[in-house]
Amino acid sequence: MKNIILIGFMGVGKGSVAREVIKHSDYIAIDTDDLIESMQNKRIKKIFEEDGEAYFRKLEHDVALWLESSVKNTLISTGGGFYKQKNLKKIGIVVLLDSPFDKIIKRIKNHPNADRKLKKRPLLNDLEKAKELYNERRPEYLALADIVIDVTKKSALECSNELLKKVKKHA
Ligand code: S3P
Repeated sequence: MKNIILIGFMGVGKGSVAREVIKHSDYIAIDTDDLIESMQNKRIKKIFEEDGEAYFRKLEHDVALWLESSVKNTLISTGGGFYKQKNLKKIGIVVLLDSPFDKIIKRIKNHPNADRKLKKRPLLNDLEKAKELYNERRPEYLALADIVIDVTKKSALECSNELLKKVKKHA
Protein backbone atom coordinates (compact mmCIF):
# COMPACT_ATOMS: atom_id res chain seq x y z
CA MET A 1 0.00 0.00 0.00
CA LYS A 2 1.32 3.39 -1.00
CA ASN A 3 0.61 6.44 1.14
CA ILE A 4 -2.43 8.47 0.18
CA ILE A 5 -1.96 12.18 0.62
CA LEU A 6 -5.17 14.20 0.90
CA ILE A 7 -4.95 17.80 -0.26
CA GLY A 8 -7.56 20.52 -0.66
CA PHE A 9 -8.72 23.87 0.63
CA MET A 10 -9.44 24.58 4.29
CA GLY A 11 -12.77 23.17 5.40
CA VAL A 12 -13.33 20.97 2.35
CA GLY A 13 -13.65 17.90 4.61
CA LYS A 14 -10.22 16.22 4.53
CA GLY A 15 -10.53 15.12 8.17
CA SER A 16 -14.08 13.76 7.78
CA VAL A 17 -13.17 11.79 4.66
CA ALA A 18 -10.01 10.44 6.33
CA ARG A 19 -12.09 9.17 9.27
CA GLU A 20 -14.37 7.25 6.87
CA VAL A 21 -11.45 5.82 4.91
CA ILE A 22 -9.88 4.31 8.02
CA LYS A 23 -13.22 2.75 9.00
CA HIS A 24 -13.45 1.02 5.63
CA SER A 25 -9.85 0.06 4.84
CA ASP A 26 -6.60 -1.04 6.45
CA TYR A 27 -5.13 2.45 6.34
CA ILE A 28 -3.99 4.27 9.46
CA ALA A 29 -4.55 8.04 9.28
CA ILE A 30 -2.39 10.94 10.37
CA ASP A 31 -2.84 14.68 9.90
CA THR A 32 -0.02 17.17 9.29
CA ASP A 33 -1.68 19.90 11.40
CA ASP A 34 -2.10 17.46 14.31
CA LEU A 35 1.55 16.43 14.04
CA ILE A 36 2.66 20.07 14.11
CA GLU A 37 0.41 20.90 17.06
CA SER A 38 1.68 17.98 19.10
CA MET A 39 5.33 18.64 18.22
CA GLN A 40 4.98 22.26 19.29
CA ASN A 41 2.41 21.63 22.03
CA LYS A 42 0.55 24.61 20.60
CA ARG A 43 -2.56 25.19 18.49
CA ILE A 44 -2.04 26.24 14.85
CA LYS A 45 -3.82 29.51 15.60
CA LYS A 46 -1.30 30.26 18.38
CA ILE A 47 1.66 29.29 16.16
CA PHE A 48 0.44 31.79 13.54
CA GLU A 49 -0.08 34.49 16.20
CA GLU A 50 3.12 34.00 18.17
CA ASP A 51 5.63 32.63 15.66
CA GLY A 52 4.18 33.75 12.31
CA GLU A 53 3.11 31.97 9.15
CA ALA A 54 6.68 31.54 7.83
CA TYR A 55 7.58 29.51 10.91
CA PHE A 56 4.48 27.35 10.45
CA ARG A 57 5.50 26.69 6.82
CA LYS A 58 8.95 25.64 8.02
CA LEU A 59 7.33 23.13 10.36
CA GLU A 60 5.28 21.81 7.43
CA HIS A 61 8.53 21.40 5.52
CA ASP A 62 10.08 19.37 8.37
CA VAL A 63 6.98 17.17 8.45
CA ALA A 64 7.11 16.68 4.66
CA LEU A 65 10.71 15.42 4.83
CA TRP A 66 9.85 13.04 7.65
CA LEU A 67 6.78 11.72 5.79
CA GLU A 68 8.87 10.96 2.72
CA SER A 69 11.63 9.17 4.62
CA SER A 70 9.68 7.38 7.31
CA VAL A 71 5.95 6.89 6.66
CA LYS A 72 4.36 4.06 4.71
CA ASN A 73 0.89 2.53 4.18
CA THR A 74 -0.74 5.61 5.65
CA LEU A 75 -3.50 8.04 4.78
CA ILE A 76 -2.07 11.49 5.35
CA SER A 77 -4.45 14.44 5.54
CA THR A 78 -2.81 17.80 5.16
CA GLY A 79 -3.39 21.47 5.91
CA GLY A 80 -4.62 23.48 2.92
CA GLY A 81 -1.18 24.96 2.21
CA PHE A 82 0.86 21.78 2.62
CA TYR A 83 0.62 21.00 -1.11
CA LYS A 84 3.40 23.55 -1.71
CA GLN A 85 5.96 21.10 -0.34
CA LYS A 86 8.31 20.21 -3.18
CA ASN A 87 8.44 16.52 -2.30
CA LEU A 88 4.64 16.09 -2.16
CA LYS A 89 4.50 13.62 -5.04
CA LYS A 90 7.26 11.55 -3.49
CA ILE A 91 5.20 11.04 -0.33
CA GLY A 92 2.33 9.18 -1.99
CA ILE A 93 -0.67 9.23 -4.32
CA VAL A 94 -2.06 12.77 -4.24
CA VAL A 95 -5.83 12.93 -3.84
CA LEU A 96 -7.55 16.32 -4.16
CA LEU A 97 -10.88 16.95 -2.44
CA ASP A 98 -12.45 19.60 -4.63
CA SER A 99 -15.47 21.87 -4.20
CA PRO A 100 -16.42 25.46 -5.12
CA PHE A 101 -15.42 28.13 -2.56
CA ASP A 102 -18.98 29.08 -1.62
CA LYS A 103 -19.92 25.43 -1.01
CA ILE A 104 -16.90 25.00 1.28
CA ILE A 105 -17.86 28.05 3.33
CA LYS A 106 -21.47 26.84 3.48
CA ARG A 107 -20.26 23.46 4.69
CA ILE A 108 -18.28 25.06 7.52
CA LYS A 109 -21.13 27.40 8.49
CA ASN A 110 -23.62 24.51 8.64
CA HIS A 111 -21.41 22.55 11.01
CA PRO A 112 -22.53 22.38 14.68
CA ASN A 113 -19.05 23.68 15.67
CA ALA A 114 -18.97 26.33 12.93
CA ASP A 115 -17.57 29.07 15.17
CA ARG A 116 -14.68 26.95 16.37
CA LYS A 117 -13.98 25.72 12.83
CA LEU A 118 -13.71 29.29 11.55
CA LYS A 119 -11.73 30.62 14.51
CA LYS A 120 -9.09 27.91 14.46
CA ARG A 121 -8.17 28.80 10.85
CA PRO A 122 -6.34 32.14 10.75
CA LEU A 123 -6.49 32.29 6.94
CA LEU A 124 -10.31 32.16 7.00
CA ASN A 125 -10.65 35.29 9.15
CA ASP A 126 -11.20 37.44 6.08
CA LEU A 127 -13.47 35.68 3.58
CA GLU A 128 -12.56 38.03 0.69
CA LYS A 129 -8.89 37.20 1.13
CA ALA A 130 -9.71 33.52 1.60
CA LYS A 131 -11.54 33.53 -1.73
CA GLU A 132 -8.51 35.06 -3.45
CA LEU A 133 -6.34 32.37 -1.89
CA TYR A 134 -8.77 29.71 -3.11
CA ASN A 135 -8.69 31.09 -6.67
CA GLU A 136 -4.91 31.18 -6.61
CA ARG A 137 -4.54 27.67 -5.22
CA ARG A 138 -7.21 25.72 -7.06
CA PRO A 139 -5.32 25.39 -10.38
CA GLU A 140 -2.21 24.39 -8.42
CA TYR A 141 -4.15 21.73 -6.51
CA LEU A 142 -5.54 20.36 -9.80
CA ALA A 143 -2.11 20.28 -11.43
CA LEU A 144 -0.67 18.18 -8.60
CA ALA A 145 -3.54 15.75 -8.10
CA ASP A 146 -3.32 12.14 -9.28
CA ILE A 147 -6.97 11.72 -8.33
CA VAL A 148 -9.69 14.37 -7.97
CA ILE A 149 -12.84 13.86 -5.92
CA ASP A 150 -15.61 16.41 -6.25
CA VAL A 151 -17.00 16.36 -2.71
CA THR A 152 -19.91 18.73 -3.40
CA LYS A 153 -23.24 17.24 -2.30
CA LYS A 154 -21.58 13.97 -1.24
CA SER A 155 -21.35 12.52 2.26
CA ALA A 156 -17.95 11.74 3.74
CA LEU A 157 -18.78 8.05 3.32
CA GLU A 158 -19.56 8.49 -0.40
CA CYS A 159 -16.29 10.38 -0.86
CA SER A 160 -14.40 7.68 1.00
CA ASN A 161 -15.91 4.93 -1.20
CA GLU A 162 -15.01 6.86 -4.34
CA LEU A 163 -11.50 7.49 -3.04
CA LEU A 164 -10.82 3.83 -2.25
CA LYS A 165 -12.16 2.74 -5.64
CA LYS A 166 -10.04 5.29 -7.53
CA VAL A 167 -6.90 4.55 -5.50
CA LYS A 168 -7.27 0.84 -6.25
CA LYS A 169 -7.51 1.57 -9.98
CA HIS A 170 -4.57 3.97 -9.84
CA ALA A 171 -2.21 1.55 -8.06
C1 S3P B 1 -3.88 26.37 6.12
C2 S3P B 1 -4.82 25.39 6.37
C3 S3P B 1 -5.07 24.84 7.72
C4 S3P B 1 -3.80 24.98 8.58
C5 S3P B 1 -3.32 26.37 8.58
C6 S3P B 1 -3.00 26.91 7.20
C7 S3P B 1 -3.74 26.88 4.73
O1 S3P B 1 -5.46 23.46 7.62
O2 S3P B 1 -2.79 24.12 8.08
O3 S3P B 1 -4.32 27.15 9.21
O4 S3P B 1 -2.71 27.49 4.40
O5 S3P B 1 -4.66 26.63 3.91
P1 S3P B 1 -6.90 22.97 7.10
O6 S3P B 1 -6.83 22.86 5.61
O7 S3P B 1 -7.09 21.65 7.75
O8 S3P B 1 -7.89 23.98 7.55
